[in-house]
Amino acid sequence: MRNTILSVLLLITILFGVLVYFIPQLGTIILLAISSILTIIAIFDSLQTKHSLLRSFPLVARLRWLFEDEREKIQQYFIEDNLNGTPINREKRSLVYQRSKLQKETIPFGTQHNVYAKGYEFVKHSLFPKDHHQIKGEKVVFGSDKCAQKYTSSIINISAMSFGSLSKNAIMALNQGAKMDGFAHNTGEGGISPYHLQGGDLIFQVGTGYFGAGKSVDGKRVFDDAIFKQNAIRPEVKMIEIKFSQGAKPGHGGILPAKKNTPEIAAIRKVTVGTQVDSPPSHSAFSNYQEMITFIQKVRDLSEGKPVGIKLCVGNNQEIEDMIKAFAEANNYPDFIAVDGGEGGTGAAPLEFTNYIGTPLIDGLVFINKLLMQYKLKEQVKIIASGKAIDAFDIVKYLALGADAIGMARSFMLSLGCIQARECNLDTCPVGVATQDEDLVEALVVEKKNVRVKNYHSKTVAAVKEMVAAMGLDSIATLKANQIFRRKKENEVVSLEEVYYSK
Ligand SMILES: Cc1cc2nc3c(=O)[nH]c(=O)nc-3n(C[C@H](O)[C@H](O)[C@H](O)COP(=O)(O)O)c2cc1C
Repeated sequence: MRNTILSVLLLITILFGVLVYFIPQLGTIILLAISSILTIIAIFDSLQTKHSLLRSFPLVARLRWLFEDEREKIQQYFIEDNLNGTPINREKRSLVYQRSKLQKETIPFGTQHNVYAKGYEFVKHSLFPKDHHQIKGEKVVFGSDKCAQKYTSSIINISAMSFGSLSKNAIMALNQGAKMDGFAHNTGEGGISPYHLQGGDLIFQVGTGYFGAGKSVDGKRVFDDAIFKQNAIRPEVKMIEIKFSQGAKPGHGGILPAKKNTPEIAAIRKVTVGTQVDSPPSHSAFSNYQEMITFIQKVRDLSEGKPVGIKLCVGNNQEIEDMIKAFAEANNYPDFIAVDGGEGGTGAAPLEFTNYIGTPLIDGLVFINKLLMQYKLKEQVKIIASGKAIDAFDIVKYLALGADAIGMARSFMLSLGCIQARECNLDTCPVGVATQDEDLVEALVVEKKNVRVKNYHSKTVAAVKEMVAAMGLDSIATLKANQIFRRKKENEVVSLEEVYYSK
């Protein structure tokens, strides 16, 4: 094959050479130049020793690489239908774009979902639907009896994404959007940057790297009371979230790729610029349940009584039960538990962690909810659920299964103009959302995107109210698992109460 390709290219080059000799016109000269360059590349390919495919198929193999590299884009632009795109399908992506831009939200002709397929889910409507303008329960109060400054939040808030994983313009637009519609913006584990301080409510996340809450001592990241307190008592900070794990990489710790570790981000996190920053997999501030409870109370005291929660993806069930039991026995507990599903998003994670570690959201959410009920902590400890919540049905379902509020990360990225290019780990995000490349970041105009963040939030809350009204309920807070249904087999539909709670 190699010889055939080289011979054909050589023949073409010789042919053009002869033509140029007898008919020296510009077009023929250009063709001679192109064929000569291709021939030289082909000879180089066949002589190099690094890639066997190129040695066997000089030049031609380069086409395969081109298609391989661009395969996902070709798939997304030309092949994907409304329901099969991953991780977030086109139908849901389009919904976010439409809600963010206040465009039409209706679809014509009927559902594209197979309503007879196993796993199809739906809610049952009432013969007497309510007026959706009158639906209550769009706010939830966080703060147990241990906490002095309760916080009333929206049922939908922006889940953790740091300045570092996202650009400064993305962070500003998210925070300004949160301010416009009165909901909360989680800082992510990278600390609080000036871009977070646009007037929107903040949930200050404390990860295992203690960025904005600690320092390095002998190469180890440790919590520091004074550094934490300085940030925690800011008026914008309404709640604190201690991160144990996230669903996309539980047991791993955060990763900031070297390319995204700019001088500004390094200064905020107090790390070496241009290096990959790997947060430790676990906290150095505590190592057992009793120390954990003491730490939660210390954080609450340092923040002058603000609600303090923990974020985790459910892993070892026995450990989680032991933890909740320890909370009950100590009569001290976090004010909320943010349960993240194994299907959750990330800026950068190892493939095995993303694909094979971590309990999916619904299983984790139900497990935690049952434990809180069993140990009589449900009144004190709220649950925030996160994991691919995008449309009102996702939200209604998670609330019905036991969540009090929903954290959403990727859908808010979509509201900023994310096109699911899946390059967050490369610093090449083409729409300036998940990159630190100055030129790309400039493309995201904060004054336009902040309104889209606001619109997406308000339209989604409104859509939740419309669903709840159609179900004949008066309040979002009264949603229950027996109101959501799933097709178990062709002729059998069961409620999620039966699936998850009656065992
Ligand atoms: C770009 C990006 C950055 C993230 N950074 C953090 C982080 O700093 N801390 C954290 O706990 N979770 C982080 N997450 C996880 C989200 O907060 C959320 O738990 C997860 O993506 C599930 O929500 P979603 O399905 O709505 O995206 C990140 C997710 C994304 C997509």
